[in-house]
This record gives sequence, structure tokens and C-alpha cells, in this order.
Amino acid sequence: MTKEQQVVLVPDYLTVREVAELIDSSPIDVMKTLIANGIMASINQQIDFDTAAIVIGEMGYEAKSQSALEAEKAEQQRAEEMTRKWEQMYKGEKPEDLEPRPSVITILGHVDHGKTTLIDTIRKANVADGEAGGITQHIGAYQVKHDNQTITFLDTPGHEAFTAMRARGAQGADIAILVVAADDGVMPTTREALNHARAANVPIVVAITKVDKDNANPDLVKQQLAELELIPDEWDGDTMMIPIAALEGDGIDDLLEALILVAEEHDFAANPIGTVRGVVLESEVDKFKGTLATLLVMNGTLKVGDSIVAGTSYGRVKAMYDEHGKKIKSAPPSTPVSVLGLNNPPEPGDRFERVKNDKVARAIAQELIEEQAVKAHKPVEALSLEDIFKQFRAGQAKQLNLILKVDVQGSLQPIVDGLEKISGANEEGIQVRVLAADVGSISESDVMLASAGDAEADKAIIIAFNTIVADSAKKQAETHGVEIRNYNVIYKLFEDIELALEGMLDPKYEAKIIGQAEVRQIFSISRVGKVAGSYMKEGEAQRRSKARISRRGKVLGENLEIDALKRFNEDVSEVRTGFEFGVSFVNFNDIEEGDIIEFFVMERVR
Ligand code: GTP
Ligand code: MG
Repeated sequence: MTKEQQVVLVPDYLTVREVAELIDSSPIDVMKTLIANGIMASINQQIDFDTAAIVIGEMGYEAKSQSALEAEKAEQQRAEEMTRKWEQMYKGEKPEDLEPRPSVITILGHVDHGKTTLIDTIRKANVADGEAGGITQHIGAYQVKHDNQTITFLDTPGHEAFTAMRARGAQGADIAILVVAADDGVMPTTREALNHARAANVPIVVAITKVDKDNANPDLVKQQLAELELIPDEWDGDTMMIPIAALEGDGIDDLLEALILVAEEHDFAANPIGTVRGVVLESEVDKFKGTLATLLVMNGTLKVGDSIVAGTSYGRVKAMYDEHGKKIKSAPPSTPVSVLGLNNPPEPGDRFERVKNDKVARAIAQELIEEQAVKAHKPVEALSLEDIFKQFRAGQAKQLNLILKVDVQGSLQPIVDGLEKISGANEEGIQVRVLAADVGSISESDVMLASAGDAEADKAIIIAFNTIVADSAKKQAETHGVEIRNYNVIYKLFEDIELALEGMLDPKYEAKIIGQAEVRQIFSISRVGKVAGSYMKEGEAQRRSKARISRRGKVLGENLEIDALKRFNEDVSEVRTGFEFGVSFVNFNDIEEGDIIEFFVMERVR
């Protein structure tokens, strides 16, 4: 290979010395070439990619941007994953049998940002007026025609409490519209929705709504989204962001065009005469009609008279209704239909499939019911970091999914960067994928996101860095088998992940919370320091336990050793629920009224 053809990978920034090393030349020569280009730089000075590329080019090599290559790789991986997901859905269909189908689009975003109004305007009907309290309660599903193309929309509720439904909303869709109101900007649910869409690997189109309002600031929204690495195409990114005033109908055509553009890129297809399968969007029991289930047909054509199994429900399709309540006889791929005839309301998110007859349907449902009964007696095994390597070995997993929550914004990027580095460096070729990284405590929605994957190996592990785990989240993590790992030192976190990837993780010790107390009054005592007059709200404190102190959800002190534990000036070895007591800590005095003290002991897990 001649020198001219040799390509070197160049990072965004590097020193003159590093340039020389890359092309096996002396730093002096590199400096000379720089000077010839009018740039004075010392040996340890950093230059950017563009400058380095010129010098490298002049010295007979070809410079390629490392980050561009990585982005390319990530994009390729994404595409592969899309294909994998897609193949699962249309499993068993021959490519030559596939025909184009309407794309299924889910609308995600913060409460009141205008999701329903947007769909409404698109449908030119008035769904929002008829909704209880104006808040969307179910996944509505509607089809719309534009430029001869049919699009299926799934409206999802924006309220925090509906996170579970939204997680499913993202999963049943080909494309996600992320709605952000221009007068309100990016909100917690916006970030969460974005995480769900990313976790489901669906392309995202942003609708910036309410741009007609006086206080609308669409540019700020773009900036906020760019900070979340969703870069508008007009800033050289690859996300289309469409400004919309839904009430006036402005921007709607642009949005539809953008969606069709994305859909065309992906060639969504299904076999209309293939295996009939899809997903349950919602279900209810109608007083007069019986069980009504809203299904999204994904492959094949569902017909009246078909026998279907949906999770543990089964039955024969007695009647089908479209979104307007009109009776229909058959539903081709990407059609949402209301189905009458199941014995029980199936769970939203359940897959459904057509089977030969009612007998088969009942047998399959029965089997699943029994399986679930067995499972109910067995606690769900958490997919632990230790297990991950086994799965890698068995070829069941190729990536480690993580959800990261930290105490302050400042620790976010260093940790994400570090994890990416580990991901790139491990010899097993296992990718570390951060599904979501955010500031705050661990909530139920994090656990939902972690357990949202289809397969066991798709589950994520939650990393709590210096942040607390809400009780409800703890409980949910237990039932869903999601592992939450607590860290307060960055290097320890990196070490564990590296070890997990190498299959060498030691048995872990976990902090087991044994009690929680609230600080009611502070006493400053000379030579002793601060004593926290506290009330034991739950559980107990032991003299040998360690403590963690948090204020408004933020951890202030971790792993604190107890200096003294007292009741009425008496030293005690433990304090039970409902009692008042005093406690002081070794080398820690940053306590205030209202602080929460959690007492824990270290326990070896498994
Ligand atoms: P949830 O379903 O509760 O999460 O809310 P949503 O996101 O569906 O919001 P919805 O469409 O119900 O709209 C909330 C409010 O914003 C309503 O009062 C709408 O009239 C108003 N709104 C929605 N879009 C626009 C818009 O483009 N411009 C203006 N000025 N108001 C809007
Ligand atoms: Mg709504």
C-alpha cells in the first residue's frame, strides 16, 4: 500500500505530538508543516480536526474523523437493530410476499403540550372536546390519509402516571413524534419520552407546538433538544423539527410531509395475507357489547370470524369496528380496530395472533395462564450485572443496557463518556448502551424503562450515582426483576462495568436499608459537634449501621459512621419505629432540620 492511500483516524482534538505519532513522523516536521500553513503551535498544543486534517493530508496521509466514523457505526448498528426488531414482527414472511403498509406513528410528549390537539387537527375531528377532563386516558388510534398515503397515529397520554402505557406506545410504532410546546420547552416527560423512543429504536420527528403563542420560543426548544443530542436538521443534525400552530392548522402539512419522508426512507412493509398478528392497544368491558379490545394489526389481515389469542384472553372475532365506530369485515396491516368477542379484556401491550380455531385458542391461552401461575409463585430473577456476562457468552446478549441517574448535571457527562470508552475498549465486542442518562432520583418510570425490553437480555440495569431510589421504584424493581446498583465513586462504577464485561465481577455487597428517620431539631454541642434530634419514621437504626443523609432528594453524606446513638441522653444499641432519638456522625456535621437519614447495613447478595 502506498503512503498516499493510508488512512488515519483522527479525534476531534489532538496535540501536535499525537498528530506526529499517528503518521509516524517527527513532531518537528508536523510543526514545520503547520507553520507553512500559518499556524504556530507548540508540541503539546491542541489543534482541531480540521487543522490536523490539512497537515496530515499535506504529509501524504488521509485523515478521517474518528467521531464521524463512530457516528456512522452507531447509525449502522441502529439500522441493524431496526431490521432485527422488524424481522421479529414479521417473522416467517418471505421478502417477496411483503407489501408496503401504512406507517404507525406514536405521539409522545409532556402533558398539555398539545398531542391530542395535534392529532385532532390532523383528523379534523374533535376528540379533545369529548375527553374526560381534557386529559387523554387511553391510547387512541386513528388513521389519516395524506397525499394518497395512509398513516396510523397512536395518541398516548402525557401524564406521569401513564408511563407504562407510553412505554408500550413507543414499542408498537415505526416512528415517534416528540411534541414539545414552544411556550414551555423541554420538560421531564419530554426527556422520558425521548428515552422511550430511543430505547425502542424508532426514528424521531419533533413537532414544536403552540408557536402561535406570544411567549413561544421555538429556538430555545431546539437548543434544549440539541443538548439532549437531538440536533435539528437545519443545524446539520438529522432530526426534522416542525413548528406547528395546531389550532390554526399551521405546519400540519409540513409535519405530514416530514413523516412521509421518514416512512419512505424505511420502506415499512408487511404481508397482508401472512400470519395475522399484532398488539393490544387497550381493552374494556362494555356493559352492552361485552369485551371490546383495541388491536393494532401488524401483519396479515384480521377478519370477522377469526379465532385469536391475545395474552391470556382468547375468542372468535364477532364484530370489528374502525375508529369511527363503523363496522368493518377485515383489517389489513397497520389498521387499528375495536374487536368484539374475546372472553376477557387482554392487557394493553400483549401480542395477539390468529390461530386455527377456538379450541387451539383456548389451549394456548390456558397454557399461558398456567405458566403465569407458576411464575407468580417464583420471584422474578433480577438480571444482575453478574448474569450479563453469562448471556454474552451464550450469545444471548450483545449489549449491556444501562439507565443512569445522577445527583448533579456535572457528573452526567463524565460518566457517560467513561462508559462509552469502556464500551469501545472491551475485547468481547460487547456494547455498553446508555438508554437514558438524567439527573434525579430513581423513579418508577426508570424501572418501567429498564424492564420494557421484549427479551430478558433487552432489560436494562439501573445505575444510581449519588442519588436515592424512591420506595415505589424499589418495590417495582423487585417485581419486575430489575437490578438497581448504587454508586458514589465514579471509578468504582467503571470498574464494576469493566469487570462485568470481562465476566469477573465479584459477589456484590449491597446496602440494605433498615430504617428511615427524619431530622426534627439540631443541637450543637461543643466538642461533639451537631446532634440530630430525629424521629424514626420506618424500620430501625442500629448502632453498627451506617447512614446516608439526604436533603430534598439529594444525597449529602454517604456511608457515614455513627458516632453516638442516644435516647434521653442514654447510649442505645438500637432505635425502633416511632421513637425519637439523637444521633451524631463521625466527621460529618452538615445536618439540617428536615433532612432524611437512611440507616443501612451491608449485606452480601447471592
Ligand atoms: P394530555 O393528553 O393531557 O397529555 O395533553 P395533550 O398533550 O394532548 O394536550 P392537548 O392537545 O389536550 O392541549 C392542551 C392545551 O393546549 C389545550 O388547551 C389546547 O387548546 C392547547 N393547544 C394545543 N395546541 C396548541 C397550539 O398549537 N396553539 C395554542 N395556542 N394552543 C394549543
Ligand atoms: Mg391528549
